Amino acid sequence: MTALRFTPLTLTSGLTLKNRLVVPPMASQTADSDGLATEKTFSHYQNLAQSGAGLVMVEYSHINLAGRSETNQLGAHDDACLPGLTHIAKLLHQMDVKTGLQITHCGGKDSAGISSDIMGPSGITVPAYDRVLPTPRTMTVNDINQWQQDFVSAAIRADKAGFDLVEIHCAHGYGINQWLSPLTNQRQDQYGGSVENRARILLEIISKIKQAAPRLTVMTRIPGQDGYPGGLSHADMAQMSQWLVDAGVEILNVSSGIGGWNRPKDKRGEGFLVEDAAPLTGKTAAAVIGVGGIETIDYIETILATKQVDLVAVGRAILAGPSDFATRVMAQPK
Ligand SMILES: Cc1cc2nc3c(=O)[nH]c(=O)nc-3n(C[C@H](O)[C@H](O)[C@H](O)COP(=O)(O)O)c2cc1C
Repeated sequence: MTALRFTPLTLTSGLTLKNRLVVPPMASQTADSDGLATEKTFSHYQNLAQSGAGLVMVEYSHINLAGRSETNQLGAHDDACLPGLTHIAKLLHQMDVKTGLQITHCGGKDSAGISSDIMGPSGITVPAYDRVLPTPRTMTVNDINQWQQDFVSAAIRADKAGFDLVEIHCAHGYGINQWLSPLTNQRQDQYGGSVENRARILLEIISKIKQAAPRLTVMTRIPGQDGYPGGLSHADMAQMSQWLVDAGVEILNVSSGIGGWNRPKDKRGEGFLVEDAAPLTGKTAAAVIGVGGIETIDYIETILATKQVDLVAVGRAILAGPSDFATRVMAQPK
């Protein structure tokens, strides 16, 4: 019998991933100071593709300069980024791998102190366990329109560059997470308050991307929940997921929310975020990705067999040695 990790998966729109392994987006910090990909970026992705994954995600790429959170972060904010992005997509396709570009605005989570204009839905400091983030200014309706335009323009660049998918980063406390979360979005207008209002900015972005780039498959990296009391709950995310899928999202890449992507202190073993993904699996037409400290064949096969997730993301275990991982986990049985 074929091991489950080798079974292909066809998404709603017909895009087929050749197997169930995903390399999640991981910032390589190899871009130049203008956000343009460099030779280091190209060899980084060629290297990751040797893992045997059917889908290799390209790291969080900022949609405008004020949305940057790290120096040497890859950009999708300008047409000048197109040659580099096109080359990354081409290299991955040559290795028979599907690829998606993750796009992001840091909002109030400017980790490096480099954003020229730190903003968020309500001017509330984003809670973080390991640092004190700056207090953002409250966004106006003009700012909302600008973000939407910038996300759509970045998605159009992903489309032009030949990526199969674009992923909107809505997790890990970054900009869109700040809009979804009741901790950081306490607006009184149609973009704040109820779950529906907090999801509005994102749902509008997705509809606009679907109109502007119908070929592109859309995915979202979402929190299964926020890591802070009073934040997004599993129930909120179940509700939002249905709306996301109704708007055209085909993959829900489930990670953590405000508090960041790291392993929670009380979680041991492989799959530390899989229990946050599992409640969403099979509930909509979207495929669900689970992540968190995954590294063994046994664990991967178990969560696929028990239908906790549809796709399995492995980050650091692949980063540590993509071809070693391929030999250990993705060598097809004869
Ligand atoms: C070096 C590094 C960079 C990361 N950059 C991103 C990123 O750009 N976007 C994102 O959504 N997650 C990012 N993450 C989180 C990973 O995608 C993944 O969720 C996390 O590493 C947990 O998976 P793992 O335990 O298999 O590594 C990053 C993680 C690492 C280690």
